[in-house]
Amino acid sequence: MNTESRNLYFDNAATSWPKPEPVYGAAERYLRRASGNPGRTGSTQTIAAERALYQARESLARFFNAADPSRIVFTFNATDALNMALKGTLAPGDHVLYTAMEHNSVLRPLGGLKRAGLISTQMIPCSEEGLPDLDFLERALRRRTRLLAVNHVSNICGAIAPLKEMLALAHRHGAVLLVDAAQSAGVLPIDVQALPIDLLAFTGHKGLLGPAGTGGLYVRPGLELKPWREGGTGSFSEQDRQPESMPERLEAGTLNGPGLAGLIEGLNFIEEQGLEQIRSREMALSAYLRAKLSPIPGLTLHGPAEPSRCTAVLSLTMAGVDCGELGYTLESAYGILSRTGLHCAPLAHRALGTFPEGTVRLSPGVFTAEADLAYLAGALAEIAKDKARKG
Ligand SMILES: Cc1ncc(COP(=O)(O)O)c(C=O)c1O
Repeated sequence: MNTESRNLYFDNAATSWPKPEPVYGAAERYLRRASGNPGRTGSTQTIAAERALYQARESLARFFNAADPSRIVFTFNATDALNMALKGTLAPGDHVLYTAMEHNSVLRPLGGLKRAGLISTQMIPCSEEGLPDLDFLERALRRRTRLLAVNHVSNICGAIAPLKEMLALAHRHGAVLLVDAAQSAGVLPIDVQALPIDLLAFTGHKGLLGPAGTGGLYVRPGLELKPWREGGTGSFSEQDRQPESMPERLEAGTLNGPGLAGLIEGLNFIEEQGLEQIRSREMALSAYLRAKLSPIPGLTLHGPAEPSRCTAVLSLTMAGVDCGELGYTLESAYGILSRTGLHCAPLAHRALGTFPEGTVRLSPGVFTAEADLAYLAGALAEIAKDKARKG
């Protein structure tokens, strides 16, 4: 294979790259021209910065169809939003359910609260395809269950959780549904009115195509969280308590203006392309890649095989080849960037049967071409052949 000067990025589930061109320009323009501190003074620069934040909140509200933009709270990533959601909602004595597909950004805050003796938790097992056991969930919900945490899309195998059914079960038992949309925002349509999700945590630097250091939490009207971080908001400064009104109730300190200016352009790009278009193309690419990889001897693809039941995130293992070694060979010999190991989701690997070694994760993005997938499949076929030859 001709591998000269290849640099193929298959790690969009970690962070999307490249970004649409206007994302870079918007962040730079903000830094050069709009860097006042929003809400703090009335200078022209400050007003320009405030306008960018206002626009980012409006764009995100429109994107998720939230009726009231003040229910979108800016955070620095999904981890931040998930911590805010969990620590702002849960009280001593609460019972919490979470699925086996959760990321450490849910497992660790829950583990901490549990170790402190504040809450009790229970895991909902998932199948080898990464799908939660809904009968188990129904049986596990009880009077004290305050919250159900669900990873919308697995960051390992792309499996899509049945949100509608899970939401119905949670609400029937009076529990709040927290959706981790780190892997689904910008990839699958999310409408918080059509599907009345209580808490939606998202990150800006993956499918939403914005810079790192951006993200948010949507909080359903009527649900008031305890502030998780407190500090300056530029409003009610005479008081030593966090303002009651949203979003200041949950936002404090200087926000990531340049990042949010870039995120607006990421959202614009998705709107221009059309999310449905992006999803259809992704499903076609995913089907193509699976068709090319399935016949390769010794290769196992993990997660759902049907493209409509997963996103383009794909995990694989090769018989007799360590994941780290496979990832290294892909990069050093073919210029293909993947991510290997446990992907911060150890329980999900247990469900998929890939614990403790993990998998090699390949995640194409909006700028991945079919030719890139053909090259990737060729590289894996060559490595498998080489392995078979050497025994
Ligand atoms: C499912 C899932 N949840 C949460 C996160 C955390 O996202 P962030 O790093 O933006 O906080 C990730 C990141 O990989 C993820 O895949």
